[in-house]
Amino acid sequence: MSTVKVCVSPVVLLALLTTVFSLDNGLARTPPMGWMSGQRFRCNVDCKNYPDDCISETLVKSTADMMVKRGYVKAGYKYVAVDDCWLAMKRDKSGNIQPDPLRFPSGIKALADYVHAKGLKLGLYLSAGNLTCMGYPGSLGHYDSDMATLASWGVDMLKLDWCNSDPNKLNNEFEEAGRALNKTGRPILYTTTWPLGQKTKGIQPDLTLVAKYCNTYRVYQDLEDGWESLEALVKYYGDNGRSFVNDSGPGNWNDPDQLLVGDFGLSTEQQKMQMALWCIMSAPLFVSADVRRMRPESQAILLNPLAIAINQDPLGIMGVQIVVKGQVKIWKKAITPKGSFALVLVYTNISGGPSRVSVLLSDIGFTTAAAYNFTNVFDGTHIGVYKPWHTFNCEVDPTGVLFVQAAALP
Ligand SMILES: *[C@@H]1O[C@H](CO)[C@@H](O)[C@H](O)[C@H]1NC(C)=O
Ligand SMILES: *[C@@H]1O[C@H](CO)[C@@H](O)[C@H](O)[C@H]1NC(C)=O
Ligand SMILES: *[C@@H]1O[C@H](CO)[C@@H](O)[C@H](O)[C@H]1NC(C)=O
Ligand SMILES: *[C@@H]1O[C@H](CO)[C@@H](O)[C@H](O)[C@H]1NC(C)=O
Ligand SMILES: *[C@@H]1O[C@H](CO)[C@@H](O)[C@H](O)[C@H]1NC(C)=O
Repeated sequence: MSTVKVCVSPVVLLALLTTVFSLDNGLARTPPMGWMSGQRFRCNVDCKNYPDDCISETLVKSTADMMVKRGYVKAGYKYVAVDDCWLAMKRDKSGNIQPDPLRFPSGIKALADYVHAKGLKLGLYLSAGNLTCMGYPGSLGHYDSDMATLASWGVDMLKLDWCNSDPNKLNNEFEEAGRALNKTGRPILYTTTWPLGQKTKGIQPDLTLVAKYCNTYRVYQDLEDGWESLEALVKYYGDNGRSFVNDSGPGNWNDPDQLLVGDFGLSTEQQKMQMALWCIMSAPLFVSADVRRMRPESQAILLNPLAIAINQDPLGIMGVQIVVKGQVKIWKKAITPKGSFALVLVYTNISGGPSRVSVLLSDIGFTTAAAYNFTNVFDGTHIGVYKPWHTFNCEVDPTGVLFVQAAALP
């Protein structure tokens, strides 16, 4: 038997061995920002009774118009994304996905062109399983063709859900779908609920693997429009946030869910809490509210430039809860310029007035600079200049936060 000698240099061999697929679409170097229909508009398909609020091209276009007009696009909110319920109930004769013909009469390509002309990007939703959560056609067995269809329309983002899939196969399914997206050659932001699906079915997710394959991923249950839901989510991330830090950063972010600022269930202080903590956690910022009619105070929270700068900080470090002082929880995130931090002091108790807190700054790691310039993020006021041996005293309102930028001074 003859042997064929194949010459492969060790360097090439190593390159071959390590050429496993990973999502490398160049997107989401900072947490993605945009609007998503999901929490606010749900699966409203009744355009007869709710012409302005049903999932339709009218909703997407009027939202895109307002995102430009009210300054969302300028502030960094770039994606306008439709959650479940945009599909027609049946695939077309060739087996391709198609939008509901009554609610998206102009088709997705025309809708993508419309939002692109406004400086926005278009996002759509699919499920990795046999059906979407609301019963529309699923993409299982169709990943290549469905992703190619999205790309041919000019879609820029996919939310891929886990409903009606085999929980034991989610790693394979979501990797396959990621590969299919890559094969289209179009950079498409890949957002998923992959680890949430696994957790829901009692499977421990491998977040390092998940983060390698998608741009954003959810691990915790849906946020609903009320304080109890936000409080539970804040407690979950307060207790567990540290375990996500290594798997969250430029290109791949932990997603605690959509922003409900501007909806019905949260007070203004509670809305500030959500925004502040999402900014500290380097979370994707997807507004799920009606930007066409929003109270000015909610809009100001969403458009706050300092809050957004902290969220979008180029270091891309996920901030976490670091200490509990009495009843106040302190969250911290390292930001630029070097040695600076953002802080959120969180008081979730609903009994009575504000809670006082005192903290020796060197105790919470303020030893990276000679002094820190403290600014109140939400009202823009100057709080003061502090040195590491100073004690910071403040009050935090019930179900509210104090959000501070602590800029390192030389
Ligand atoms: C596909 O993956 C390769 C290798 O990771 C990467 O270089 C390329 O940019 C990706 N393309 C798209 C469109 O995501
Ligand atoms: C999807 O549908 C196919 C065909 O009906 C079925 O064989 C398969 O078990 C289903 N998969 C899941 C995850 O439900
Ligand atoms: C994160 O990475 C750091 C540095 O490699 C390591 O010390 C730490 O244990 C990791 N944390 C977790 C939760 O895996
Ligand atoms: C809320 O504050 C009140 C008054 O300080 C205290 O008695 C109560 O235990 C606190 N509740 C919680 C859940 O911490
Ligand atoms: C400190 O921050 C305030 C805004 O809170 C700003 O006006 C001031 O210029 C800053 N001071 C220094 C020395 O950077």
